Amino acid sequence: MKLKLNNESLAQLQKEIDDALVGARTTEDVDAVRVQYLGRKNGVLTEALKSLKDLGLEEKKVFGPLLNDLKNRIEEQLTRAEHALDVDQSAARDLTLPGIVPETGHLHPMTLVQHELMDIFRSMGFMIVEGPELDQEFYNFESLNIPKTHPARDIQDTFFIKTPITRKEKRDLPKTGWVMRTHTSNMQVRIMEEYGAPLRCVVPARVFRNESTDASHEHTFYQFECFVVDEKINIGNLLWTIQEIFRQLYKKDVKVRLRPGYFPFTEPSFEPDMSCVFCDGVGCRVCKYTGWVEMGGSGMIHPNVFKAAGFPEGKYTGFAFGMGMSRLAMLKYGLPDVRLFMDSDLRILKQF
Ligand code: DAH
Repeated sequence: MKLKLNNESLAQLQKEIDDALVGARTTEDVDAVRVQYLGRKNGVLTEALKSLKDLGLEEKKVFGPLLNDLKNRIEEQLTRAEHALDVDQSAARDLTLPGIVPETGHLHPMTLVQHELMDIFRSMGFMIVEGPELDQEFYNFESLNIPKTHPARDIQDTFFIKTPITRKEKRDLPKTGWVMRTHTSNMQVRIMEEYGAPLRCVVPARVFRNESTDASHEHTFYQFECFVVDEKINIGNLLWTIQEIFRQLYKKDVKVRLRPGYFPFTEPSFEPDMSCVFCDGVGCRVCKYTGWVEMGGSGMIHPNVFKAAGFPEGKYTGFAFGMGMSRLAMLKYGLPDVRLFMDSDLRILKQF
């Protein structure tokens, strides 16, 4: 719409805007008025201002200031109208309504179990150590009585590192290769060297296996290792400790039995079973109707391990056990499948 410049038309324009703003109910309505009159393209007042340049000098002198005044006034009016609507709308909010609770993150169930486990161990006087994920073959294998030719190296599908590693280590070990640790047992001799005996120690940490991922295999997973070294440590201490840890973690009395097993770094070696926490040993899907669940590996520390750590021969004995953290978490939270933890399915994870 083109404005004819005279006093009446300007007065008429002001009235139109006043009326339009009286009818404005929302900030969008106010915006529409702004666009119609002040819009950069085709705004009625904007066009009128542009047309000033075609006027004679006298007319310019009259209408120039009039149009500018009008523009300033309208801008003020629009701002005021917007502000009034804002205030209006916030007054319309019902402050007694419950608020919108923002979503917050939380710890993963595996982390929760790890923390709880650490609290239990700490209360029993164990120290907690993590150690390096990239380690020398010596600590992951040789020091644990697993020499190069030992078949156990094949069982533990290892990520061998080809790139030369220049990390400075306390102990100078010529020509040992480097691996991603395949188990937390890699920390046994490291800790013995660092702290000496007696020791009460737990290692919760990430380990790696060169396996193709399937339903029950992950290349990266969590284990924890526990070991105790002193002058008179025996199998009874091992059995009691496992039982007590489980009793506190699962908050019920569980039975533990030690089945004979084989690990190069323990002698004798055992595979500990725990009575099923779901059916209390009666038999259910989780324990495959046996009443027992397998919980990892354990045994009395082999004399060759002490030897690798430089401990005097025959002076110390010790027990060790190692377990997968996901198994512990699965039993703790009653999840039927370990994979549910790792699938990042929020419907599951949000429950913790
Ligand atoms: N390191 C073993 C594994 O990953 C588990 C294990 C067995 C740990 C016996 C121990 C042990 O401390 O005594 O399969």
